[in-house]
Order: sequence, then structure tokens, then C-alpha cells
Amino acid sequence: MKKIICGNYEECCSAAADIFTEQLRQKPESVLGLATGSTPIGLYEQLVSRYDEGKIDFSRAKAFNLDEYYPIKQNHAQSYKTFMEEHLFDKVNFAQKHIPNGEASDVVAECARFDAELEAAGGIDLQLLGIGTNGHIGFNEPAVSYPLKSYMTQLSEDSLKSNSRFFTKGETQPTTALTMGIGQIFAAKQILMLISGANKTEITKKLFEGKLHTDVPACFLLLHPNVTVVLDKAAAGV
Ligand code: F6R
Repeated sequence: MKKIICGNYEECCSAAADIFTEQLRQKPESVLGLATGSTPIGLYEQLVSRYDEGKIDFSRAKAFNLDEYYPIKQNHAQSYKTFMEEHLFDKVNFAQKHIPNGEASDVVAECARFDAELEAAGGIDLQLLGIGTNGHIGFNEPAVSYPLKSYMTQLSEDSLKSNSRFFTKGETQPTTALTMGIGQIFAAKQILMLISGANKTEITKKLFEGKLHTDVPACFLLLHPNVTVVLDKAAAGV
């Protein structure tokens, strides 16, 4: 696991944007695995600026998002589809955009559809990940076993609490979600994990402890041959 410690969040986003830029330079038709949440917002801003300046082109790239709340209307203000449109998809020129459908009536069929699209695309070249304070990746929450492919998951207390900040009073916060499975994330050729902020110091420490904590899903990445973790000093606790 390669570790890049940056002075602040902005520098992290710039380092992460460099990795995306290089990936698309080397393989313009890349399959990019994308994440939502607070952490990637600055990275997406940088990607949009670079796109506006003609430094990066997504016209042959395919985007696959990690997860989506379920059930949620696709046009709900807090759906991950809306998030992606606002922060990236409406601002750059992806050839394809794939997100699990939060309003699908048949969850099993929806997961199978998403998996088939991902397989048809040839799997992920570069997967962006954040990390939950409980070590979740995507919405693979700490558990005794982990599905390899997409599935509907029960959100942990920890995730519900963390993500409640996005929902206003009166908005119902979903307690379940559709997520890529650990096997699909692990099959990515390259993984880029972005970690920022003092609230992530503890989980970051656990990740770098040199042990495979099986109740910390992010720890499985310790076994992956091509992972870069870009983190700020606050997350690194230095
Ligand atoms: C989001 C996702 C989650 C987040 C994680 C960190 O698509 O899959 O695993 O990456 O919850 O979220 P933030 O960045 O809001 O701290």
C-alpha cells in the first residue's frame, strides 16, 4: 500500500486528480469506479477545472459508482445519482455513467443488472474510495462475511449517524443501500483511497497497523497489489 501524506485537503485532491489524469492519459477508455461523500468533492472540483482547461477528457471513459441509497428516488436531493450529477457528471463528458438504481422495484435484478454492466465494461481500471469511520468501503459495513458482488446492505449505526448530516429534518434517511461487493472493488486494477480529516485518524491508524482486521473492510485492501492512499496530515495524525 503506497501512502502519500499531503499537507492539507486541497493538496490531497490535487494529488488524486493527478492520478486520474495520468490514468486517462494512459488509457482514455478507462473504467473509473467513483465514490460519493464529502471526501471526493474537492477532487471532483479539480477534475472539472482540468476538464474546462482541456487537460483531461472523459469522452471515452465509463463511470461506475460504488453505491446508492435504497430505496431513494433517483432525483432526490440526497441520492448519490443527484450528488454525482451536481459534482461531476453534468460538468464533464463521460461516455457512460452507471449508478445502482435506488428506485428499482426488484433489488436482486437491479444488482444483477449493475454487475452485468460492470462485467461488460471489463471491470474497473481505477477505483476511488473513501473510508467510513468504521472502516467501511462502499457500503460494505463491518461484518463476519462479505458478498463479492453487488447486494443490498443494512447501513450500520455508524454510517447512519455520519450520513445524517446530509438529510434535513423531515427527509427520511434510508437505512439500506445497494453497494458493489468487496470482490468487485478488489478486482480493480488500481485503487486510490482518499482520506481526510481528524475524524478519520483512528480508523487510518487501524488500517496502517499492519494487521488484517477482518471487521475493518478497508483492511482487505492491504492484500491488493496496487493501492495508493492519499491522506492529509489530520487523517495521518501527524
Ligand atoms: C460513498 C462511499 C462511502 C464513503 C465513506 C466516507 O460512495 O462509498 O464508503 O466513501 O462513507 O464518506 P465521507 O467522505 O463523507 O467521509
